[in-house]
Amino acid sequence: MIDKMINEFNTPFYLYNENIIQEKIQFLNNLNFKFDCKFHFAVKANPNLAILNRIHLHNFGAEVVSAGELFKALKSGFDPTNIIFDGPGKTEFDLKYAITQQIRSINIENLDEIDFINEYSLSKGLQTNIGIRINPNIDGYTLDKITTGKTGGKFGVSFDQIDFDSILNFKGIKLTTLSEHIGSQITDHNQLIKSYQELISLADQLLKKGISIETLDFGGGFGVIDHSDQELNFQEWEKDLNKILEGKSYKVIFEPGRYIVADSCELISKVLYVKQSGNKKIVITDCSFSEYLRPALYDITPPIEVLNKSKDFDVYDIAGGICESTDYLAKDIKLPQIKKGDYIKFLNVGAYGSSMSSTYNSRPRPLEVMMNKEEYRVIRSRDTLEDLCKNEIM
Ligand SMILES: Cc1ncc(COP(=O)(O)O)c(C=O)c1O
Repeated sequence: MIDKMINEFNTPFYLYNENIIQEKIQFLNNLNFKFDCKFHFAVKANPNLAILNRIHLHNFGAEVVSAGELFKALKSGFDPTNIIFDGPGKTEFDLKYAITQQIRSINIENLDEIDFINEYSLSKGLQTNIGIRINPNIDGYTLDKITTGKTGGKFGVSFDQIDFDSILNFKGIKLTTLSEHIGSQITDHNQLIKSYQELISLADQLLKKGISIETLDFGGGFGVIDHSDQELNFQEWEKDLNKILEGKSYKVIFEPGRYIVADSCELISKVLYVKQSGNKKIVITDCSFSEYLRPALYDITPPIEVLNKSKDFDVYDIAGGICESTDYLAKDIKLPQIKKGDYIKFLNVGAYGSSMSSTYNSRPRPLEVMMNKEEYRVIRSRDTLEDLCKNEIM
């Protein structure tokens, strides 16, 4: 099937497997939680409408961080009451849109957001549910560039900064939620549990003061096999979760992004050239950091497969055609011997792959294809050269 697709579409293209997304969703939906729980897909991981639509059909909500993501979540079928809005830099436009849609909760990360949401809601005759994202000062033990739960960072607010009494007096808002998210690609479940415990204990403290929090939003971050060969131990995680929530009546939300879509996608690429540079063998592909940014951004090496039958191996640097010296997809990687015209698959690029892609160097963004056991179909067409000029005025 892959040969047929390569002939039909040309490279590069993202190839998603719908069945894998479904398996991931079912796995989470089948966990044996002893508390009220809802999963909200983090749209930033992959905002393709076809993917969002599939996820929404499985009783998931959505987590968005911009008006654009909110628009796409609504367009793909999510009900506003199943959408939560996070993000450390929401604009007035973002907030007004979220308020008028009356979504499940806007989780604030700056105290000034509270006044604005209150006043705008009152001006529209509305009351808006809000949450407060707490910065629990807990290390996710993940890559530094994707850790978000430590003091000194830009995410969330610390508990002692919040004047709960005055929040309760605002008539345009209702405080329903405490939230947190300590980072992405977390494989140490103990750190997640520690951060959940912190949030539970803060909500318990508030309850003693007569302030009742309805929902605890524990964020996402579930690690998958990627740059490390470890993934989250869900069995232990589930067991510990049930334990720490025993006897509590909070509703719980999780916001997984990567876990749902990462493994579902391969980026199919063609080898344009192979060259020798000093003692290095460099493979130049028709993919670059414009199509897959994470290796250049985080210094990770994605799993790679070469679609040839070579039994001999060599060590390569895999680069793209962008005029930047950071444009590498892998370095010093041992692969079957590669020649010009071979095809290479970058695996596990379903999360933060297409969604972080750009048209840098005026490269049209690639086609996206979704397959299942029976068929495949295009879910995003390749940009045309005209698309690259679409919003520009000469
Ligand atoms: C607030 C929030 N929730 C959820 C996520 C999703 O994280 P992941 O894709 O690692 O599950 C992110 C990712 O940046 C986030 O910032």
